[in-house]
Amino acid sequence: MFNVKSFSKFSKVLNFKHFTRELLQWYPLNKRDLPWRNTQNPYIIWLSEIILQQTRVAQGLPYFENFLQKYPAVQDLAAAPLDDVLRLWQGLGYYSRARNLHHCAKQVSEEFGRTFPTSYKELLKLKGVGSYTAAAIASFAYKEKVAVVDGNVFRVLARYFGISEDISSPKGKKEFEKLANELIPADQPDEFNQAIMEFGALQCTPKSPDCESCPLQESCVAYQNNLIGELPVKKGKVKVRTRNFVYFAISCGDNLMMKKRGGQDIWEGLHDFPLEEIEELDKFELTNSKYYPALEEISASVHYEPQIKYRHILSHQRIFSTFVEVKVHSKFLSQLKNLGQKHGWKLLTANQVEELGKPKLIVNYLNDQNI
Ligand code: ADE
Ligand code: SF4
Repeated sequence: MFNVKSFSKFSKVLNFKHFTRELLQWYPLNKRDLPWRNTQNPYIIWLSEIILQQTRVAQGLPYFENFLQKYPAVQDLAAAPLDDVLRLWQGLGYYSRARNLHHCAKQVSEEFGRTFPTSYKELLKLKGVGSYTAAAIASFAYKEKVAVVDGNVFRVLARYFGISEDISSPKGKKEFEKLANELIPADQPDEFNQAIMEFGALQCTPKSPDCESCPLQESCVAYQNNLIGELPVKKGKVKVRTRNFVYFAISCGDNLMMKKRGGQDIWEGLHDFPLEEIEELDKFELTNSKYYPALEEISASVHYEPQIKYRHILSHQRIFSTFVEVKVHSKFLSQLKNLGQKHGWKLLTANQVEELGKPKLIVNYLNDQNI
């Protein structure tokens, strides 16, 4: 524990009141005007929260608008093909969220009487809806008194109350959840939840919080004890695995060979190219590649520049990749199709490829090649 001033039970209660009051005063004066804040529609709130778990507000806004335009109600999203949903999600990454989004829409449409459940407890039954999202929907749409606890909330509470519990441990999470649920007022749970997240996003920011203009400065433990850089404490680091992909961009005229990615791996359901995963990119030799003999027989040209690499950083994996360009002569079209069939690849036109949901790395490659 840090050496911070300890509070008597009495001053803690006072600080609770002070914290909540100041926060609720600060919010209407400083909040951003965001489209999902002007509604109590649980579908719209749910959609925005799922997108915002994945990205920042500025990047998430166009996705939110596109989704809402294409799928104005949960039934529309439920009826859409998964491929379309993945395509619309393209660029946000972490596609299991998009699959859960679609699954959840179906659940609501089919199992829950076509409308979102109306309590925190019931909302937790939905696919992809954890305690954070359930609390957000329950409080914003139905004014249920249940606190949201996200990264912003951890940070604000850890600093203001001087809590050094590890936010990545289950014990730490519980402590912050308990505190947030003690602070949240029964008459304005929605306003309080929005306020504390917005305060974390705008005022008490991770790197350089604006303490000088902060209404909580005088009673903020982190500020008063010079612990802003130390709080919150986050110990658990995820292990990051490095993977090396050699992609085969096989074209025949206007057609490109694509492969739909299977389960139990990243980018499930998206389309990329035929792929060889190898130990070390620098040691890759085209002539040793497993696809090379078959491709060499039918190709008009094979082009490979090992120095051109693409990378993609995910939460648990770093992907490094290079691309082998294979142009197949049109007279070998049927052989190419046979080869594709053997490996589960699909030969598609450029327009069809454009329509598919693809990993960002593949989109970048296609853009660079003007395909
Ligand atoms: N981040 C997560 N939820 C949010 C919300 N409702 N408004 C702004 N930013 C958010
Ligand atoms: Fe955050 Fe600084 Fe305000 Fe404390 S004084 S709540 S650290 S912005």
